[in-house]
Amino acid sequence: MRRIALPPRHAPRSTRAPRLSPGAVSGDTWTVLLRLAQPDDAIAVAELHVRSWQVAYRGLLFDDYLDALQPEVWAQRYTFADPDPLKPATILAQERDVICGFATIGPSGGEDTDSAGELLALYVDPERHGVGVGRALIHEARARLARQGFREACLWVLLGNERAERFYRIDGWSPDGARRPAMVAGFSVEDIRYRRPLP
Ligand SMILES: CC(C)(COP(=O)(O)OP(=O)(O)OC[C@H]1O[C@@H](n2cnc3c(N)ncnc32)[C@H](O)[C@@H]1OP(=O)(O)O)[C@@H](O)C(=O)NCCC(=O)NCCS
Repeated sequence: MRRIALPPRHAPRSTRAPRLSPGAVSGDTWTVLLRLAQPDDAIAVAELHVRSWQVAYRGLLFDDYLDALQPEVWAQRYTFADPDPLKPATILAQERDVICGFATIGPSGGEDTDSAGELLALYVDPERHGVGVGRALIHEARARLARQGFREACLWVLLGNERAERFYRIDGWSPDGARRPAMVAGFSVEDIRYRRPLP
């Protein structure tokens, strides 16, 4: 468990007003707690995950599909707190008792990236975009992968997800030219791969 102090510039908008948001520890700084997800977190994570898909992938995937996503179904897919180090691990960012983002890491399954770690998911609550939560999570994700012995990491991002691509580039990731087609609810999409050395 790790508590990250974010600079005032990155404080949630509400903390700049006299009333403090749930995550604020003072008027000047606020903190997020980074911790590993537990099975009890599944529904809260799934609600955030679905909300984030509905915002990030609007215009990239069918509206009907996005609007029908069900957190209860997604919650059942997570395998939080699996003790097997070869299985994915999910890091949560939490403001007081509210989960505001998560990152999932694990070994990469790719043929040409089998010695790399992978950032399998990174989602921040749309209400908390742009305040430093994503940066805190990706730093922690990279550090954990490096501690597990990986010297390199990769991730896949949906083609057209410009905000995410910009974020990753600023964090030192570069596209390596690999692309993979995927079908999401009958919709044909393409993912592109980014890589960077660790940590
Ligand atoms: C992409 C996403 C994870 C970024 O998280 P975030 O909390 O909004 O980002 P932060 O507030 O930490 O980053 C703020 C800024 O710091 C930049 N930044 C990121 N890493 C940085 C670093 N290491 N050093 C300096 N700046 C950095 C970001 O590019 C961003 O700049 P911008 O606002 O001008 O674009 C978030 O917007 C999100 O959840 N998007 C929807 C889901 C998604 O697309 N996930 C990726 C799936 S592959």
